[in-house]
Amino acid sequence: MGLITSATGSMADVPKDLMDQITRLEELFTVPQDKLKQISDHFVDELTKGLTVEGGSIPMNPTWCMAFPDGYETGTFLALDMGGTNLRVCEITLPEEKGEFDIIQSKYRMPEELKTGTAEELWNYIADCLQQFIEYHHQDEDLDALPLGFTFSYPATQEYIDHGVLQRWTKGFDIEGVEGKDVVPPFEAALAERGVPIKLTALVNDTTGTLIASAYTDTEMRIGCIFGTGCNAAYMENCGSIPKLAHMNLDPSLPMAINCEWGAFDNEHKVLPRTPYDIVIDKESPRPGQQAFEKMIAGLYLGEIFRLVLLDLHQNQDCAIFETQDVSKLTKAYSLDAGFLSFIEEDPFENLSETHDLFQNKLGISCTKPELELIRRLAELVGTRAARLSACGVAAICKKKGWETCHVGADGSVFNKYPHFKVRGAQALKEILDWPADKGKGKDDPIEILPAEDGSGVGAALIAALTLKRVQQGQNAGIRDPEAMLKAAKVEVK
Ligand code: GLC
Repeated sequence: MGLITSATGSMADVPKDLMDQITRLEELFTVPQDKLKQISDHFVDELTKGLTVEGGSIPMNPTWCMAFPDGYETGTFLALDMGGTNLRVCEITLPEEKGEFDIIQSKYRMPEELKTGTAEELWNYIADCLQQFIEYHHQDEDLDALPLGFTFSYPATQEYIDHGVLQRWTKGFDIEGVEGKDVVPPFEAALAERGVPIKLTALVNDTTGTLIASAYTDTEMRIGCIFGTGCNAAYMENCGSIPKLAHMNLDPSLPMAINCEWGAFDNEHKVLPRTPYDIVIDKESPRPGQQAFEKMIAGLYLGEIFRLVLLDLHQNQDCAIFETQDVSKLTKAYSLDAGFLSFIEEDPFENLSETHDLFQNKLGISCTKPELELIRRLAELVGTRAARLSACGVAAICKKKGWETCHVGADGSVFNKYPHFKVRGAQALKEILDWPADKGKGKDDPIEILPAEDGSGVGAALIAALTLKRVQQGQNAGIRDPEAMLKAAKVEVK
């Protein structure tokens, strides 16, 4: 396994002090096969524990999305996606034709200040965007309330599908007065204040949306994953395997989508091979002690891990790196994103000239050739660790459910844009699950991670559609007020 040599260039000219550091970093960041297996075994136990009354670190949130689509869902729905960087509003029409959809959408930039502002500012901003969307696309129409699927991609406890108590902010959000409360009433109040004709039908996690959107066109889909700013997965469980719902006496064979919130895996630090850099990331974050797994693998943190290593090499370690250079730009927290690492890993030139220019232009640092070799190797190590650890979660769900073959729908900037992420993940799955030698290439594998359909648009719309369909059929588990839901969505009660 070419772990020691870099993908380009050679380490022949790298002086001993830097070579020693590269070796040290390889030891710190490489996750060997036996460790992968140990992590995924522990992961299986933790998934199970999260479904019990006592619970564990992984929340394993029941979502009240209780069916896969059959491809014949119909209707017009709004979908709102409150992602980390953008706010997206979509109108989705599901026609009669199986597995088809039409979509119109608008994107609004989420101002950075909103992430650490007040709850009122957040809900007002979101309601303004929805109002703008409706006014633009339905000018002068006398609209009935449109059913909305709201993709709110944070851990929420849901007693009903149109309810969600935020457990804690993740992904760097830190808005006071939202944690521990149902997010739906203030959101609805902001809409009502503006007279926007929308009825929230389902509060959805992006992973559940991804699972359902992907299953709309692919019946092999079993897991929805996001590898983006954050990292998480959802899958379909049987109600009978969810002890924390036992008091509701649901039919044990009924399906229930579970939003794992696996970013919280190993918050107690039992198995993950954390480096000193991971410890700093956690300590400096708005929620120390939370999202241990996510902080080692998600896009929000990859550039920061990389930056912390370089800064440490320059300031503290016994080696000569960036000597006589002004590193002030490198000292700024979160100044490098995952795209910065992608760019380095994509540098096609033997002399790493693009990486050289990137450091020069973005950081004002002029790197020597050996420094560039170290930089490239470090990017590979951080990116590879993220992909390999992510695979532990996928393998764990499959092991728990006894799935030897299935499709996994994946979305998010890291999955879609980070070079080699897919192949590295497939290789790790092969090592964990002991696949034959010709497998693990990311194609025709027993468990295949495939690019997903649009989860927070089409997926959220489908979940709203499935919810209304279920209520019409009188299956009211997890529905707060069935009549009001149908009435608001102008669906006839059958
Ligand atoms: C974070 C959120 C989770 C979301 C994931 C991907 O882990 O807590 O709800 O699914 O990011 O966006």
